[in-house]
Amino acid sequence: MELQIVFGVLMASIVATLTVPSTAEEVSDCRVELGMRSGAIHDQQISASSFYGPGWEARHARVDGRYAWRPAQRHRHEWLAVDLGRTVNITGVMTQGHLSYESPRRPYYLKRFELDFKTQYDEEWTSYKIDGKDITFDGNNDTGTVVTNILPEPVLATALRFHPAGWHSNGFALRVEILGCSLSVPSSEPPSPIATTTVPPFPAKTTHAAGRAEGTTVHDSSAWTMGFQGERE
Ligand SMILES: *[C@@H]1O[C@H](CO)[C@@H](O)[C@H](O)[C@H]1NC(C)=O
Ligand SMILES: *[C@@H]1O[C@H](CO)[C@@H](O)[C@H](O)[C@H]1NC(C)=O
Repeated sequence: MELQIVFGVLMASIVATLTVPSTAEEVSDCRVELGMRSGAIHDQQISASSFYGPGWEARHARVDGRYAWRPAQRHRHEWLAVDLGRTVNITGVMTQGHLSYESPRRPYYLKRFELDFKTQYDEEWTSYKIDGKDITFDGNNDTGTVVTNILPEPVLATALRFHPAGWHSNGFALRVEILGCSLSVPSSEPPSPIATTTVPPFPAKTTHAAGRAEGTTVHDSSAWTMGFQGERE
């Protein structure tokens, strides 16, 4: 009896964390939406450095949602974090701005951003780098278009964090989705700690456009060395 209940709860939570892939191609490419849009990623898994006021909380940072996250300040030190609750193969991110409900309505969007990652075994965040240089992604040029950035190399991580690097003169609001899939070989071993770099509170940023708008082909980046790779095979 009790066992059945436990099993039922377990099944319910498994079903709740599954997202339905749209096409077979997305599955084989490991580009399934991980649940910001669908709600499979819960409000408590989304956090931020601050929020501007009521209606702008981090939990609203969902692609195509009615509201969005907007920080208290237009500043590089603000961030939006999503905790996936398990280590996932992350292959891309989608971003979208927001047209506010103020009168007059105002556009807010992030033109450029950077990413940090960590696993559940890491204390510190690691910034996403190529050849030791922080990568800056091209974000949005308007409030409504969803822009997809495919990571030049996938990352095995439990959580990720978006950092603003450039924005509309009004400031920025953000709605996001994370693309990826479960690990092909589930591991019971902790991965080795992520590389070396910890992120200082006000990092000196290098600007290096890597990601582009939707439809851009993925770079061949065999020169990549991220601490996330290679421990799972
Ligand atoms: C992550 O996804 C990429 C792209 O599909 C794939 O090549 C890679 O093997 C995956 N890694 C793991 C550990 O599942
Ligand atoms: C936004 O504008 C910049 C600068 O013109 C351009 O490089 C970028 O590709 C544009 N992004 C999109 C999604 O159109």
